[in-house]
Amino acid sequence: MNIILLGPPGAGKGTQARYLVENRGMVQLSTGDMLREARTSGTEMGKIVADVMDRGQLVTDEIVIGLIREKLETVKGAGFIFDGFPRTLGQADALATLLAEEGQELGAAIAMEVDDEALVERITARSTCGTCGEVYNDKTKPIPADGKCTNCGGTEFKRRADDNEESLKTRLMEYYKKTSPLIGYYYAKGLLATVDGLADMAAVRAAIAKVMDEA
Ligand code: AP5
Repeated sequence: MNIILLGPPGAGKGTQARYLVENRGMVQLSTGDMLREARTSGTEMGKIVADVMDRGQLVTDEIVIGLIREKLETVKGAGFIFDGFPRTLGQADALATLLAEEGQELGAAIAMEVDDEALVERITARSTCGTCGEVYNDKTKPIPADGKCTNCGGTEFKRRADDNEESLKTRLMEYYKKTSPLIGYYYAKGLLATVDGLADMAAVRAAIAKVMDEA
């Protein structure tokens, strides 16, 4: 089954996507991760992407749709998790077309609901393993005392350049202006499900599993 994890920055999309990859063999398609890879390429496009991301704005539909198209044509697995895509109505329409071209369907768009204050706290406390990308949080999931990643044993951890209060304000504004209309869009298509993203990680996992099992 193919699903979308829909939610504001810090809602827990990446955390839950990683769990679904490990436990259901699904394929995570995170446009954020793809763009972070592109920005290290040293190309002109990479420089533009880096500037837009650091300011917390959205990269153009053309670029992200191109990235997703390439993955859908080349990657196979037990269902895709669209993490951070689509983020505009144009991207949502493009996804519907791309899936239809591949003979695939969308099972559910799962909106993760979290209040803004919690998002600021989560984002400013986040770090990730520099080797495998495991997500940590100073408060809710701290880096182990021995300084080793629980997933891969890596010892380098990083913080994202856009994980600061200033960028986050723009990211939230972009979310409310351009991405939140997708909740109505998927409701109208009969594909919307909502989960409480403020619940603890295990409870969110269970809620997503329930949506998928019932879809
Ligand atoms: P992207 O990388 O997609 O970032 P985002 O949407 O801002 O989401 P985050 O990765 O910040 O949060 P998340 O929901 O994955 O939360 P996480 O699981 O890490 O995009 C970055 C940028 O790229 C955008 O601003 C834009 O510029 C560009 N971009 C990307 N896609 C694009 C697109 N389609 N179109 C245009 N531009 C695009 O969790 C956050 C923290 O909370 C962690 O510390 C975690 O441990 C903790 N946490 C998670 N769940 C819980 C829980 N249940 N309880 C307590 N703590 C929790």
